[in-house]
Amino acid sequence: MRMTVIGTGYLGATHAACMAELGHEVLGVDVDQRKIDSLQKGEVPFYEPGLPEVLERNLEAGRLAFTTDYQEAADFANVHFIGVGTPQQRGSYAADTRYVEAVIEDLVPKLKGEHLILGKSTVPVGTAAALQQKADELAPEGTSVEIAWNPEFLREGYAVKDTITPDRIVLGVRGEDSAAEAVAREVYATPLSNDTPFIVTDLQTAELVKVSANAFLATKISFINAVSEVCEIVGADVTQLADAIGHDDRIGRKFLGAGLGFGGGCLPKDIRAFMARAGEVGADQALTFLREVDAINMRRRQRVIDLSREVLGSLIGKRVTVLGAAFKPNSDDVRDSPALAVAGQLSLAGASVRVYDPQGMDNARKVFPTLDYASSLEDALRGAELVILATEWDEFKTMDPEWAAGLVEGKVLIDGRNVLPVAAWQSAGWELHALGRSL
Ligand SMILES: NC(=O)c1ccc[n+]([C@@H]2O[C@H](COP(=O)([O-])OP(=O)(O)OC[C@H]3O[C@@H](n4cnc5c(N)ncnc54)[C@H](O)[C@@H]3O)[C@@H](O)[C@H]2O)c1
Repeated sequence: MRMTVIGTGYLGATHAACMAELGHEVLGVDVDQRKIDSLQKGEVPFYEPGLPEVLERNLEAGRLAFTTDYQEAADFANVHFIGVGTPQQRGSYAADTRYVEAVIEDLVPKLKGEHLILGKSTVPVGTAAALQQKADELAPEGTSVEIAWNPEFLREGYAVKDTITPDRIVLGVRGEDSAAEAVAREVYATPLSNDTPFIVTDLQTAELVKVSANAFLATKISFINAVSEVCEIVGADVTQLADAIGHDDRIGRKFLGAGLGFGGGCLPKDIRAFMARAGEVGADQALTFLREVDAINMRRRQRVIDLSREVLGSLIGKRVTVLGAAFKPNSDDVRDSPALAVAGQLSLAGASVRVYDPQGMDNARKVFPTLDYASSLEDALRGAELVILATEWDEFKTMDPEWAAGLVEGKVLIDGRNVLPVAAWQSAGWELHALGRSL
């Protein structure tokens, strides 16, 4: 099949390359010329394990190309995916849908014949119906455009696997006359042949599935972090508690890692947009608990700042090393990163902060150019009076505590993710602190 993927960021570049990997002919479209030039050369402009190989293979096979030209996109295919950003609006909790709207405005007037647009971006409920109306108004005489919603659940760091072998495929369609299901069955023929669950819904359910999934995950993380606050006060151990409740199948251990909390380009903005939209549709009280989920999450960042001050006495002029800048391991994405937020706050509070991340350094420098960035883990640790493990990269989890002890000035570490083997670190002479347990 021929298809375009409009918006080639984390979601779109992955989707475009993986659709080509499934055998389709794909044209990726973006307004960012530099991104398109880089992708066309076979270079992924962000870190995603496995994606460079898929990109290169499919460019070489001639199944994948990139452009900034909407006319080329309109002429190339009758199936178009939208993967542009839907960030938080400035000064509001709501999602900014102007980029998805711009795609319809730029693409639809150029279309001829019958076209299907499948939205993958995470949008407030009601967006697809509004876009359908806009498309109907803009479609040239004799052209018909259907909008369907096909939310994306990929996880950065596992994006290729999640796109090629998804847990489930959700498709929201407008009604009986929809052509979307038949097209989606062809697009996703390979995963569907492997019994991937395929759930066809109305448009509003599909839109809500995605934000509900993220709201649930955020709530689970904040639940354990709220319990962690109590653990800290009474001297209980949140990691043992999480293990114990996680053995219950109904609860499960995943997403019960107490620590510095969630961040990134999705969870924080998605729960806020969900709250905002619930208010707009008149369900004001339904999601007010998400405000608390957000607040618990933000308090964990503050707790690490407070703990650093307690441990060091004062932050002024102290050399603090923050290990991690990406919002999670196996990604270079620093959007709303808890690690960078902590590094930035410590720096503003007078500490001399040095940051190291295996992949997120370039992006971090753009957001916080004033921080000091180390060239390696060794360089980061040298001379530190306090080390904070803020993102749970394997390189940090498997670090040798004896080796690290030989580099730092003060053997004091805050394990912001509860991932280090405590006994080994303590026997190497380290004073260890963690969130939700006293060590
Ligand atoms: N990143 C993830 O893990 C993930 C997972 C699931 C869903 N999502 C959702 O997918 C969407 C995109 O997220 P992302 O992380 O890929 O964002 P991103 O910022 O990495 O990418 C967005 C891309 O869209 C491009 N763009 C903006 N306006 C455009 C236009 N008019 N025409 C063509 N391109 C345009 C930008 O240049 C950019 O390359 C969001 O709604 C997000 O919530 C993301």
